[in-house]
Amino acid sequence: MGGLFDNILGGNESLFLNPEHLDYGYRPKLIPFRENQQFYIANCIKPLFNRRDGKNLLIYGAQGIGKTVCCKHVLNELQDQTDDILVIYINCWIDETSYKITLDICNQIGYKWIADKNTKDLIDEITNIINKKSAVIIFDEFDKMQDYSILYALLEKIYRKCILMVTNDAGSVRRIEPRIMSRLNLDKLEFKPYNPDEVKEILRMRKDYAFVKNVFENDAFELIAKKTFELKDIRKGLFLLEESGNIAEEESSRKILLKHAEIATKKIDDFDDEKILEGEEKKVLRLLKENPEKNLKDIYELYKAGENKSFRTFQRIVSKLRAAKAVK
Ligand SMILES: Nc1ncnc2c1ncn2[C@@H]1O[C@H](COP(=O)(O)OP(=O)(O)OP(=O)(O)O)[C@@H](O)[C@H]1O
Ligand SMILES: [Mg+2]
Repeated sequence: MGGLFDNILGGNESLFLNPEHLDYGYRPKLIPFRENQQFYIANCIKPLFNRRDGKNLLIYGAQGIGKTVCCKHVLNELQDQTDDILVIYINCWIDETSYKITLDICNQIGYKWIADKNTKDLIDEITNIINKKSAVIIFDEFDKMQDYSILYALLEKIYRKCILMVTNDAGSVRRIEPRIMSRLNLDKLEFKPYNPDEVKEILRMRKDYAFVKNVFENDAFELIAKKTFELKDIRKGLFLLEESGNIAEEESSRKILLKHAEIATKKIDDFDDEKILEGEEKKVLRLLKENPEKNLKDIYELYKAGENKSFRTFQRIVSKLRAAKAVK
């Protein structure tokens, strides 16, 4: 009877080695195929090194093609280079009003005396601090911003800055008032989807870090790479890699086989079928759908409802739902 259980994974074994490499927010050491874009962003920031005003930039392109990760990579390098340039990153999907953005900026630059101050007071404090140095400020997902008055204030009051506006909906700049637009004087940088070889290489790198060596069968990986290219969204590829691994582990398989990748791919195809969602995912999906007017932080409050659930886990679920097209 030897061999019957050869391909069965033991209870304490896992196909995953470093699963965090599949997290959407994980920042890989290298961001291949976006070198030109990284140089372009760096060039907009460069004048700040000579104590001059930087160039403001609109970064646009479809979802899941490296806009955010690229910006964060450039900013990380910048922070390694100098302490004279403050780096501020705002996700407008989380902070959608000028007040919330202002609080977030205070937090990021270490200003703590926020009690009893209104937005205007806080902006005065912020600009005093920033004007001792200079700043790169990123407004990611800026199309989710509900009012643009913070932009006006920052543009008027900060001497040396570089503002990066990131979106997958380039048309949303039309909502910004002409007076602000003219002050922003945005340069533009488009991100185009990756070609099939690029998609494959990006996913290969993430896979090789995330999984135990040689557990991912080649035909399973090829299917995922092909599907990801069709969907033009790297996040979906990361989802498929992880999901295939989970499905294989559920079967206690020692390898991730083509059939596992096929099941994962099918999940993406009919994701709005709530049946395949896990309990927590269902809960988040329902909250998102029932509260379209609420921002993510408020939905997180509803979700955890006093329990000890981390925002990070919540964000992972939201990203997963977004990747699988269950929510926008
Ligand atoms: N060139 C790359 N190398 C490695 N990973 C990449 C690359 N491009 C994208 N990714 C990964 O793909 C995922 C999606 O990328 P990112 O979050 O930057 O997308 P985005 O363009 O900002 O999308 P959205 O408009 O939806 O915010 C991330 O996990 C990111 O690490
Ligand atoms: Mg992004």
